[in-house]
Amino acid sequence: MKQIGVLTSGGDCPGLNAAIRGVCRAGQEIHGMHFIGFRDGFRGLVHDRTLPLDSRVLPGILTDGGTILGTSRDKPHRMPIGNRLRDMTDAALETYARHQLDALICIGGGGTQKNAWHLQQAGLRIVTLPKTIDNDVAYTDVCFGFDTAMSIVTEAIDRLHSTAMSHGRIIVVEVMGHRAGWLALGGGVAGGADVILLPEIPYRIDLVTEAIRQRARAGKTFSIVVVAEGAMSVSQAQTVEELATAKETAETQARKRKASARLEAFHEQHLRHTVDLTRRLEDLTGLESKLTVLGHLQRGGTPTAADRVLATRLGTACAEVLSRREHGVMVAAHGESTATVPLAEVAGKKKFVPLDHPWLTSARHVGTCFGD
Ligand code: F6P
Repeated sequence: MKQIGVLTSGGDCPGLNAAIRGVCRAGQEIHGMHFIGFRDGFRGLVHDRTLPLDSRVLPGILTDGGTILGTSRDKPHRMPIGNRLRDMTDAALETYARHQLDALICIGGGGTQKNAWHLQQAGLRIVTLPKTIDNDVAYTDVCFGFDTAMSIVTEAIDRLHSTAMSHGRIIVVEVMGHRAGWLALGGGVAGGADVILLPEIPYRIDLVTEAIRQRARAGKTFSIVVVAEGAMSVSQAQTVEELATAKETAETQARKRKASARLEAFHEQHLRHTVDLTRRLEDLTGLESKLTVLGHLQRGGTPTAADRVLATRLGTACAEVLSRREHGVMVAAHGESTATVPLAEVAGKKKFVPLDHPWLTSARHVGTCFGD
């Protein structure tokens, strides 16, 4: 394997450049490989928009946030072209052939793993790396980007603590994570949040308010409530389950479309759920409540040392994997070493917070409320 393509896809995160540098440096210096980058994810592959990954662009990128290649959430087989979605798999295959690539490295989260598997099945040789601040890619212990985002959440909670305390307020902190609550859990534990609400644990508002009231009775009139974007109350979780079942079991296309539209409407409405939750907590506890949405701050800036090390480790291991002519795999972190996992296994799976995870247990032991 000598001629290798590289792209970054999905939401950006700190550590992408460290991974690009790791794979290219090791590939060039140890294995005599040449690298060509594709801009803006799979869109750059489809439209053949490139960036040579050589000594002109690689120096100095280890510490930079974002990705020098650019990224997008475009899928090769459902790409918006003009005003419709088109299957551009053949165009991706043509670009691959035009550059006489021996393999393509796709660096991304869950969606990228699926798209990469699609291209592998279409005949390309693909190797992937797992990145995402959500830390929810299956079959890897950890994804790069997560540690940096967790540090940002922790610092934000630290700062919010002093102002919450001074004013005797509840501060609700919304963090990213639609389906998996790793970031809320990790940041919440590190920041000493009083309440943590995760997508994996549907919450009861009465239990949350009771935890806050109990703190107030003990003289602590402030509380920090960390909420993952996708956290839901028990009744909201039930509604989603019913709508999803209705969609899955719909007997006609018309019914399926209707159920799908209702599910979408629910999720659209849920985008503002932390606003509603903050208001309800104020009403129910009588304590002034404020909301902070951390948003894309969590994805920005320079990677932590742990993310730089992880991305370099996975990137250099990826060059090694390519030199063995292995493909159709993701390079995963397994303890202190790396392993390859078939893309067929990874694609379409997510790593959720297990309900017996040690972080969760420790948080409960220090009195954190999860609303259950
Ligand atoms: O990449 C994962 C993620 O950061 C999620 O946690 C978040 O919900 C989503 O991306 C936001 O995506 P976008 O940047 O496209 O709004």
